[in-house]
Amino acid sequence: MRVLITGATGLIGSRITQLCHEKGIHVNYLTTSKDKLEQKENYKGYYWNPSTGEIDAACLDGVGAIINLAGENVFQPWTKSARNRILRSRINSLNVLHKLLSEQEHEVGQLISASAIGIYPSSLRKMHYEDETEIDDSFLAEVADKWEKAADRFTDLNLRVAKVRIGLVLSEKGGALAQMKRPVKYNVGAPLGSGDQWQSWIHIEDLARIFLHILENGLTGVYNGVAPKPVTNKELTERLAGVMGKKTWLPNVPAGILKVVMGDMSSVVLGSQLVSSKKIEETGFTFYYVSLTRALEDLLHKKTG
Ligand SMILES: NC(=O)c1ccc[n+]([C@@H]2O[C@H](COP(=O)([O-])OP(=O)(O)OC[C@H]3O[C@@H](n4cnc5c(N)ncnc54)[C@H](OP(=O)(O)O)[C@@H]3O)[C@@H](O)[C@H]2O)c1
Repeated sequence: MRVLITGATGLIGSRITQLCHEKGIHVNYLTTSKDKLEQKENYKGYYWNPSTGEIDAACLDGVGAIINLAGENVFQPWTKSARNRILRSRINSLNVLHKLLSEQEHEVGQLISASAIGIYPSSLRKMHYEDETEIDDSFLAEVADKWEKAADRFTDLNLRVAKVRIGLVLSEKGGALAQMKRPVKYNVGAPLGSGDQWQSWIHIEDLARIFLHILENGLTGVYNGVAPKPVTNKELTERLAGVMGKKTWLPNVPAGILKVVMGDMSSVVLGSQLVSSKKIEETGFTFYYVSLTRALEDLLHKKTG
């Protein structure tokens, strides 16, 4: 079996690629960087530029399914032009793929596209399931909503479409954990805002396994990509400090300061999303990492290579 992955060179994509290889699944990937192109039998790179519509049509050779993760990094100041790039990069990527699939003969039967739990309205109490119809009023929720709608268009081409609403991904290779570790390491880690906001985290290995589970079982629809036991920001900070052998002693960082320093982007750290993993578990998926402490111990005590 061969899959085409967009964003394969990123944090999540590289872990999904590794898992595909462990399972004997070959990977074609699309990259916007010519210097990331490789040509191995199980890892073949193809160039594309979603903003101009350029794509190497050979990327579909032998491909039965597409995993779509590509998009400009959201962790940058949200200027007007950055917002445009963050949104357009995701929509353009899917549109370019849609056009190629509609013009060329292919054997692709499935699309699994990334989304984000930031789509759910921020709440300290409400548990969010995949059938939630309300969306948050933040910029990231707008991006996730439009991203999911662009993925849904692939049903017109008779593809099975699944979308994974990804939570806070914990990885030893970067992302949110690297940002959280730094202040804790220097003994200045502190909860953000009230610290009561929910953080629906997931170990990167389980997230990669969810994508493969959806692929192997031909699942369709929306699935939350979060672990079964979300924690508050305060608990996350304290557990991280505990696993690192550090203490948290500073008062919480006030929400007002975060809003001044981060602008609208503060919604990323102050927003509260309590999200359920029940639906994916009901399809037979079992998590390796249910306990946050075990996930952190695994990631922080692992050699990064
Ligand atoms: N990590 C998280 O906690 C999290 C949470 C929720 C949702 N997500 C979403 O899941 C996806 C994968 O996340 P990640 O953490 O692996 O992201 P990442 O490390 O930033 O990787 C994203 C990949 O997208 C490609 N890319 C960057 N700018 C692009 C553009 N303008 N047009 C087309 N492709 C572009 C890059 O690949 P090339 O350089 O090879 O082109 C990059 O490696 C992202 O879209 C992200 O928004 C992530």
